[in-house]
Amino acid sequence: MSINDGSQLDLIQRPRRLRMNPLLRAMVEETRLSPKDFVYPMFIEEGRKGRRDRQEVPSMPGVFRQSIEAGLKEMEECLKLGVRSVILFGIPEHKDALGSEAHAEKGIVQQAVRAAKKAFGADLLVVTDVCLCEYTDHGHCAPIRDGEILNDAGAAIHAKTALSHARAGADIVAPSDMMDGRVGAIREALDDAGFANTPIMAYSAKYASGFYGPFREAADSTPQFGDRRSYQMDPANSDEALREVQLDLEEGADIVMVKPALPYLDIIRRVRETFAVPVAAYNVSGEYSVVKAAARMGWIDHDRVMMESLTGIKRAGASIILTYFAKEAARLL
Ligand code: PBG
Repeated sequence: MSINDGSQLDLIQRPRRLRMNPLLRAMVEETRLSPKDFVYPMFIEEGRKGRRDRQEVPSMPGVFRQSIEAGLKEMEECLKLGVRSVILFGIPEHKDALGSEAHAEKGIVQQAVRAAKKAFGADLLVVTDVCLCEYTDHGHCAPIRDGEILNDAGAAIHAKTALSHARAGADIVAPSDMMDGRVGAIREALDDAGFANTPIMAYSAKYASGFYGPFREAADSTPQFGDRRSYQMDPANSDEALREVQLDLEEGADIVMVKPALPYLDIIRRVRETFAVPVAAYNVSGEYSVVKAAARMGWIDHDRVMMESLTGIKRAGASIILTYFAKEAARLL
């Protein structure tokens, strides 16, 4: 058979028929990203002002530690792009052993939430990260006694912290500490104080991951001794993720999260197929930074890889994606 002799295979099925032009491809597209899928993570730092009101995180080009005022401007930018949700991380001026600033009424996150709700009201969904590691001088997500991470004391402080966020006006609270029982403790504290309608987005299957490196630089939350392996999950485990998700749901979680996203697409899929609740995935700092770095080297096409990654996360089963790419991706959509 020569190339030009017009002979054809006797094929009935030709999947390529539906790939022949962009309109056909768009028609049969199974996964469609939308700016509504995204939650944009932001770092709000106490004590930033004037000309120093924002500082780029060296390992995360395009991401800033910033004052509340600068943060409000970026929230407005998000809204213009159709990104209607942010998750706030606080960087306090003062840290202590118990992370007291995490639940201070005038804490940095509490103030940022109040300012955001005042400026944007119901147009912007404000999620708050509930964790102690940015607030403790030792950098762990719970108090410590004789080198031991105190689970139950941690859960109690997280409950207090979540309540202070709800009081400030947070639309959703998102515990990321991985202490056992913290979702139940938070649910009870919220309900007792009249916040029965404040949802909990639980970081349920959160793995002890090397991909958090740039975040710890951004949030100044590196553990000062040891690591987080006694509370965050072993990357080798999958059944355990289902158990963590189930426990969080039993304790009152409304949305469950898998984190990081790309190395754990199988976990996203299993959670999606096992539980009938919204699944969120956190496309974490290191996943962002590797794309930025390789693109800078000219080794990959930034926009293509970004969109392919986000599409993969959604295709795996996440309907909510926390990502530092939110604004850039929304611009392309
Ligand atoms: C706090 C927290 C972390 C992240 C979100 N919340 C870091 C950690 O557990 O060390 C990581 C997010 C990212 O890497 O983008 N516990």
